[in-house]
Amino acid sequence: MKIIDGKLIAQEIRKNLKKEIDALKNQEITPGLGIILVGNDPASEIYVRNKMKACKELGLNALLYRFDQTNREEEIIDQIKQLNCDDRIHGILVQSPLPSCFDENHIISYVAKEKDVDGFGLYNLGALISDQEHIIAATPLGILKMLEYEKVDVTGKHVVVVGASLIVGRPMAMLLLNRGATVTIAHDKTLNLAQITQQADILIVAIGQAKFITAEYVKENAIVIDVGTNYIAGHLYGDVDFASVSKKASLITPVPGGVGPMTITMLLSNVVKQAKGKGD
Ligand code: GUN
Repeated sequence: MKIIDGKLIAQEIRKNLKKEIDALKNQEITPGLGIILVGNDPASEIYVRNKMKACKELGLNALLYRFDQTNREEEIIDQIKQLNCDDRIHGILVQSPLPSCFDENHIISYVAKEKDVDGFGLYNLGALISDQEHIIAATPLGILKMLEYEKVDVTGKHVVVVGASLIVGRPMAMLLLNRGATVTIAHDKTLNLAQITQQADILIVAIGQAKFITAEYVKENAIVIDVGTNYIAGHLYGDVDFASVSKKASLITPVPGGVGPMTITMLLSNVVKQAKGKGD
């Protein structure tokens, strides 16, 4: 068994990104990210803090706009419209999830496609599904980069993605399908989950339940990617029971230090891509 070191891979990508950012700065362009945070979901607070910190470390501008349940939807949309016209800002992200009183899809639909660094907008999703990939959501893009780094050829492999979210599962499945994998998407209504996951050459888990996937769910020598970030009593746990699954897997990501560092790095990469004008 080999551990995929997301922290190390992310550091290498960041070194190259820093060079690209410095080159942009020489042309008087500082890549800028506008973050909309609504409410005070504890996990979102941590994600946003980490995103701001990473931007600062690499020399990107990050501007945070906070709202709460007392704000009207129009106020958030007005802020997005202002950022759409703000030349300092090359990417806008609306941290998910929003409090349930807001219509998340409606709000996100106001992010200009040229600034959709999350890749959740309909233009980028349409581009992905029609195999004309453009801006790809950061977490699946980070997983793809990890697999590439480890020289995993996904062609013809059976990949089982557990979780059908817009943030991870759906774009992940499409990215792999575009690369010739045979993809199964399982989700919370899937019957006999273990029977399906046991068939996976590559198992990608994003369900948000700590240590849910134990060794019984995994085929011998499978590659296992754990997207889970479950905070319990101040500790971070993945969706995979690392202790038992790592004995069976050929390659596995840890939590922390696996997918997490890659996600933020790929977000920054998307901002830089837009700042370079390659995302237009
Ligand atoms: N919440 C959890 N992950 C993400 C992400 O990648 N983007 C946004 N906007 N919200 C998230």
